[in-house]
Amino acid sequence: MADLQSHVVMLPFPVQGHVKPMLMLAEVLCHAGFRISFVNTDHIHDIILGNIDKSSFLSQFPGFCFLSIPDGLSPEHPRDISSIIELFTSINSMGKIMFRDLIISLLRQEDLDDKETWQAPCCIIADGIMSLAIDVGEELEIPVITFRTYSATCTWVYFHLEKLIEQREIPVLEGNEDIDGLVTCIPELEKVLRRRDLPSICKCEIDHPTLKFFLEQTSKMKKASGLILNTFEDLEAPIIRQLHSIYSKVYTIGPLQALLKSQLAGSPPIAAPATGSLRQEDRTCISWLDRQPAKSVIYVSFGSVVVMSRDQILEFWHGLINSGKPFLWVIRPDLVFGDGLPEEIMCPTNERGYVVSWAPQVEVLAHCAVGGFLTHSGWNSTLESITVGLPMICWPLIVDQKVNSRCVSDIWRVGLDMKDSCDRSTVEKMVRVLMENQDEEIAKSTTKFANLAQKSVMEGGSSFCNINKLIEDIRSIQS
Ligand code: UDX
Repeated sequence: MADLQSHVVMLPFPVQGHVKPMLMLAEVLCHAGFRISFVNTDHIHDIILGNIDKSSFLSQFPGFCFLSIPDGLSPEHPRDISSIIELFTSINSMGKIMFRDLIISLLRQEDLDDKETWQAPCCIIADGIMSLAIDVGEELEIPVITFRTYSATCTWVYFHLEKLIEQREIPVLEGNEDIDGLVTCIPELEKVLRRRDLPSICKCEIDHPTLKFFLEQTSKMKKASGLILNTFEDLEAPIIRQLHSIYSKVYTIGPLQALLKSQLAGSPPIAAPATGSLRQEDRTCISWLDRQPAKSVIYVSFGSVVVMSRDQILEFWHGLINSGKPFLWVIRPDLVFGDGLPEEIMCPTNERGYVVSWAPQVEVLAHCAVGGFLTHSGWNSTLESITVGLPMICWPLIVDQKVNSRCVSDIWRVGLDMKDSCDRSTVEKMVRVLMENQDEEIAKSTTKFANLAQKSVMEGGSSFCNINKLIEDIRSIQS
C-alpha cells in the first residue's frame, strides 16, 4: 500500500448520475494510497451510508472518510428534476459557505493532529457543475480539478454555449422546420450535430436563469487546473484533442467501472461492494434473467431522473409486448407523472415482462441473457452499455441525452435513435431490429468498442496511463 497521507477532497453534485462515477474515482484513488474526504450533501450522505456495509467498505478502503454538508434546502424538499435549479442555486450559495468551513477545518486539523498521520488536503476534485469548489479553492489556494461526468462531446458542446447564442442557434424551437439543420459552429461536430441534438438547456430563451446558470458554471469550470472525464480515447479522440485547447491537462479515465475492476484485480474481494446506487436494488431480476435464453432479453431503463407520461409508458409497454421479446423493465415509483401507472403495468401477468423499481444495472447489462438496452441515453448508462458490447435503442429526453444518442447512432454506430417519437410501432420495430441482429454494422461496432474499452483500462491502455498521470500530478502538488 502506498502512503496514506496525500489527501484529496472530492465533491460530487448530489444526484445519482454524478455521485456514482465520483465514488468510483474516489475508490480508485483510495486504492492508490490517497486519503479521501468524500463530501456529500447530508441528504445523499444518509442514503449512501444506508446502502453500504460501512465496516466492510472501510476495511477495503482504510483511507476513506465520508463527510457531509447541508445543501441549504428543507428536509421535505423533493430534490427532483422539477426543482433541480433550486438545488443548483442553493448548493452553490448556502452549500458553498459550509464547504468553505469544512475545508478550513480540514486544513486546521494539521495543527492539531500528529503530522505523521495527517496531511491537509492538497487538492479538490469537484463535479463540473459545482463551481463553488472553484471559488473556495481560489480563496484558500487549493488547486481544483474538475470532473465533468458527461461525455467529452457533450462537455465540448457546453463550452460553445456562448457561441451558440451568438449564432442564434439558441433557443432551439420544437416543431421548427430548422430543427434538423446542422449546427456548424462547433469544431469536429459540424457534419453530425443537428439542432435537435443539442442539450436540453438550448431550448431556453437566452435570458432564462437555467441557461445563465450553465454559462456561469462552464466559464468557472475553465479555471480548474485539469479536466477529468469518464470516457476513453478510442471513443472520443478528436473531441478530446479539442478539449486540450482549454485545459493543458485532460485525464480521460473511463470506463470507470472497468478501470476500478482492473485496478482492484488481485486485491482481496470486497464482501459487499459499494455500487454507488442511491436506491435499493431489486436483485430478484437476476434470478429471472438466469432463467432466460442467452441474448434474448431487452433491458429497459430510463435512469434516475427522467419522468414520462402515462401515454408514453403505455406506448412502450405495447411496443415491447408486440415485439414478442422478453423484457426487464425498471419502473421507478416516480417515473410517471400525472395519473400514475396504467393498470396493465401494475399487474404484469405477461410471462415475458419482468418489472422492478431499481435494478443492479451494471450486473444486468453484463448478464448473458441480455441482448439489448432500451435507454434514455444518460452518460453512465451509455458507457456501461458500450463497455459490455450491448447495442442500444435510445429514447433521449433531457440534459446531455440527445447529444449522447446522436453519437451512439451516427458516430459510433452502436445503436438506434428513436429521438422524439415513442409510438408502439416504432418501439416494436426497433426492438426487433436490435434483438434479431438485423443491423450488421451495429453488431460489429458494439464488439469493436467493447474491446477498445477493455483495452483502455488494462496496463498500457490510455485510461490506465491517464489515471497514473493523475495520481502522479496530485502527488506532485503534495510534495
Ligand atoms: C443524469 C442525467 O439524466 C444523465 O443524462 C447525465 O449523463 C448524468 O446525470 P441519470 O438520468 O441517472 O443521470 O442517468 P445515467 O447517467 O445513465 O445514470 C444512471 C445510473 O444509475 C447508472 O450508473 C446506472 O447503472 C444506475 N442505475 C440505473 C441502476 O443502478 N439501476 C437502475 O435500475 C437504473
